Amino acid sequence: MPSRRKPKTPAPKPVRVAIVGTGGMANRHAELYRQIPGVELVAACDVDRARAEAFAQKHGIPADGVYTDFAKLLRASPCDAVSNVTPDAFHAPLSIQALKAGKHGLCEKPLGLDHAETRRMAAAARKAGTVAMVNFSYRDWSALQAIAARVLGGEIGELRHVEASYLQTWLTCPLWGDWRTSPGWLWRLSQKHGSKGVLGDVGVHIVDFATYPAGPIKSVFAKLKTFPKAPKNRIGEYHLDANDSAVLQVEFANGALGAIHTTRWATGHPNRLALKLHGTRGAFSFDSDLGTDTYRACLGPDVATAAWKDVKTAPTPNNHQRFIAAIRAGAAGRAAAQPDFDRGSEIQRVLDACFESDATGRTVRI
Ligand SMILES: NC(=O)c1ccc[n+]([C@@H]2O[C@H](COP(=O)([O-])OP(=O)(O)OC[C@H]3O[C@@H](n4cnc5c(N)ncnc54)[C@H](O)[C@@H]3O)[C@@H](O)[C@H]2O)c1
Repeated sequence: MPSRRKPKTPAPKPVRVAIVGTGGMANRHAELYRQIPGVELVAACDVDRARAEAFAQKHGIPADGVYTDFAKLLRASPCDAVSNVTPDAFHAPLSIQALKAGKHGLCEKPLGLDHAETRRMAAAARKAGTVAMVNFSYRDWSALQAIAARVLGGEIGELRHVEASYLQTWLTCPLWGDWRTSPGWLWRLSQKHGSKGVLGDVGVHIVDFATYPAGPIKSVFAKLKTFPKAPKNRIGEYHLDANDSAVLQVEFANGALGAIHTTRWATGHPNRLALKLHGTRGAFSFDSDLGTDTYRACLGPDVATAAWKDVKTAPTPNNHQRFIAAIRAGAAGRAAAQPDFDRGSEIQRVLDACFESDATGRTVRI
């Protein structure tokens, strides 16, 4: 009798991953990797040994895979890929070091501190020929993927008007801990500690979120603001001089106008991303407070009555899944590994233009 058993699918090619920077966000990387068959966490590195050890223990990384020296990790660990989850100032040096050692790299956002730095990172990625992606993590949301595909497919006609915002409230609300006593929040408020403020921290996300469907930005006029937060605006070693709020007025390459804004002072919204795209033949609207797999559409006959319908989307692969799939796919995978370092660098260029615009009071062409 012929067997009714399904043929066994071959085991996925193993991918061994190291994580550098084992603070808050590194846990999310570890959890996402754990969900991908065939991925093994083999090393953890942090300048704080106790933190790296606790992280390794929590995520099943062997004790001999714990490092405080990243160069040593690159020499000694059998890892194929590195997740760089260090503070922003270390993204460029450590990612370039990993690429030079022939590793694949998934780097946290912002890709670097400025466009010059991120161009060097993108060049290092091209030279290494490995997979190099930036973790614009809201690409993981299926609603954004669906909206981008439909806008780029021309379903709302010519784009005319875009509204995008990323609102956080950790400066007014203790839900995520007390920023006054937590180094993980304080470095984000201090330029000397490598922070580019809310614009560099989550502004990068909303610029990627908006321009993924809407296309590149041609020019920007930006206003940034740093509000007083402590006596002499200082807590210990941290000078609280990085921007907390940013408002961008943009023109897209396709001619549409847009308003993009972000703040850490959005009392009532712990973490809300919203996007509206209005075209000549329809519109899409997304609000993460209402769900990350659902968006609203005003299309076809509904345009005449300004009626909106909810659209639920099926899950799409997340960045970590795409990163691992690209590594497994070899050369073909590298081309599809989005968002890559070139994309991270393109977003950084917009950020540089925002800082220039805020400093000069002028619109800056990109
Ligand atoms: N994609 C997202 O949605 C998202 C969310 C949160 C944070 N992030 C990014 O992740 C990065 C880390 O953020 P976090 O909240 O985990 O910060 P964190 O301060 O909690 O952790 C950073 C860790 O890096 C370690 N570190 C510092 N310098 C190092 C070095 N040279 N080598 C090795 N380790 C070093 C610190 O000791 C700390 O343990 C930041 O770039 C942040 O922008 C991204």
